[in-house]
Amino acid sequence: MSKHKVIYDTDPGVDDAMALVFQALHPDIELLGLTSVFGNATIETTTRNARFLAGRFVAGVPVAQGAAAPLERTAPDPLAWIHGDNGLGNIALDMTDEAELDPRSAHRFIVDTVRAHPGEVTLIAVGPLTNLALALAEDPQIATLVKQVVIMGGAFGTDGVLGNVTPAAEANILGDPHAADIVLGAAWPVAIVGLDVTQPTIMSHEYLASLRDRAGHAGQFVWEVSRHYEAFHEQSAQLAGIYVHDSSAVAYLLAPELYTTRSGPVRVVTEGIAIGQTIQKPSTMPVPAPEWDDRPECKVCLGVDVPGMLALYENTLCGTL
Ligand code: RIB
Ligand code: CA
Repeated sequence: MSKHKVIYDTDPGVDDAMALVFQALHPDIELLGLTSVFGNATIETTTRNARFLAGRFVAGVPVAQGAAAPLERTAPDPLAWIHGDNGLGNIALDMTDEAELDPRSAHRFIVDTVRAHPGEVTLIAVGPLTNLALALAEDPQIATLVKQVVIMGGAFGTDGVLGNVTPAAEANILGDPHAADIVLGAAWPVAIVGLDVTQPTIMSHEYLASLRDRAGHAGQFVWEVSRHYEAFHEQSAQLAGIYVHDSSAVAYLLAPELYTTRSGPVRVVTEGIAIGQTIQKPSTMPVPAPEWDDRPECKVCLGVDVPGMLALYENTLCGTL
């Protein structure tokens, strides 16, 4: 199996961190770099956290700092009640081995790295899509040079699923709806891993405790970083566990057969009360819809093999693939 060359665009963020560990330990992923973006916390915090995570789990992989705010709006307030004051569940951060900060901006790093590996790089984007939109603006040709874009974001109504910030909008898309509409309309292959599949994917308290006891330092880290995050889920959703958002995007790249998808162009609402809503026109829909019809198809994940995904994560961290 040839490795997936990946640029990880991230707003760490507890679940971002858990997804980084997943990528670091899976043998089929070659991380070329992390690019930070605002979202769960300020760009300063998400960049510091990306440097901590890269230094601890993927030594030598560069971090490039990205956008501090969306294309056309102001940055959202940090989500301390979800991800902690430091963005990583308020765990102690030993910055001794922090990754170097690449001198380029995130979007310049993306353009240069994609051009250095034409047709080979997958972008996994698990925060607001501002960096990807800026990369397209800087060099529109990269859309033809990227192997695949896998985003964690959006909500498409499967089994009644709603947004998680407003009834219409999921956090990453709402973080920069204009960027999201640009990214989802570019001529690169896009897979969208939204709340339709990430909310049904739940790591229970027992599952996380089992990783703590069986997956060495990685399992202990995942347990510690998820304590505050699990408390948020208990309080907000009466859940004895956590929704698996960002690691689901990684799982889709590694094992797309775990997901059922629907093809069709996707638009993002960029104003009004439904701002941040993601709306797909399924390719099977026979009616003309000019706002969708001249855009490329995206694959939207509507179903997931939850036990299969959880087993993949567990086996990756426990070294039992
Ligand atoms: O809606 C969940 C998404 O928003 C996840 O990527 C989480 O880390 C936050 O960025
Ligand atoms: Ca995220």
